[in-house]
Amino acid sequence: MSGSGAGKRLILMGPPGGGKGTQAKRLQERLGIVHLSTGDMLRAAVAAGTAVGKQAKAVMDAGKLVSDEILVAMIAERTAKEDCAKGFILDGFPRTLPQAEALDKLLAEKGQKLDKVIEVTVPDARLIERITGRFTCAKCGEGYHDKFKQPRVAGVCDVCGSKEFIRRADDTVETVSARLKAYHAQTAPLLPYYRAKGLLEQIDGDRDMNAVTIDLERVLT
Ligand code: AP5
Repeated sequence: MSGSGAGKRLILMGPPGGGKGTQAKRLQERLGIVHLSTGDMLRAAVAAGTAVGKQAKAVMDAGKLVSDEILVAMIAERTAKEDCAKGFILDGFPRTLPQAEALDKLLAEKGQKLDKVIEVTVPDARLIERITGRFTCAKCGEGYHDKFKQPRVAGVCDVCGSKEFIRRADDTVETVSARLKAYHAQTAPLLPYYRAKGLLEQIDGDRDMNAVTIDLERVLT
């Protein structure tokens, strides 16, 4: 399906640990459009010690949502960049109704629209294992899992060969339950919002990663 994604503007929704980041990275390569993860942007701001990062850190560590004001400004700035002209995959945004409305307004001002919103569904019980087993390469960001996706050579990144890996500060059992609570209370109400617009597709994310990718490609062609 290479090249068929030109001009696509997509949202990948789903619970924490549902596989949004894993699948968005694959889609980015296949569709040739950028992957915009607001979680990654916020973690970069925290690491760089910016004003936004300082405000966001405690909120993220508690598993709560950072303010709509910060997130909307972040996405407005990022989507205005040249590399978004062909389209983008939003991962982790929008997460509240005000964020979804702000995105609609932002796109309408540019004469653009969303093409599809895809929810990757995974039962809550599976998510704790997925999140607490996750780690990434400190150099290139490739994602791994203690049980579901180990590097081919133990301790060495498949992609760049680095031997340094990191785990996220919010990937603890305690924080996961706060993140799930925020997802059900504040983000799940976006599903009927997008269904009413005829944009929503749902796929079963509780399967092998490759099976999920095949399903995603099916709904995007
Ligand atoms: P964010 O970074 O967006 O975290 P999240 O939504 O909790 O999602 P995750 O990144 O944890 O999971 P994922 O779905 O990408 O799963 P992954 O592919 O890694 O947000 C972090 C925080 O930032 C929020 O809590 C909030 O504070 C703040 N924030 C961000 N955006 C915001 C917004 N818009 N508004 C307000 N606040 C915001 O997969 C997980 C693991 O499972 C991996 O190890 C992977 O290898 C494995 N895996 C993936 N798929 C499968 C499969 N099919 N089978 C087995 N294992 C699998």
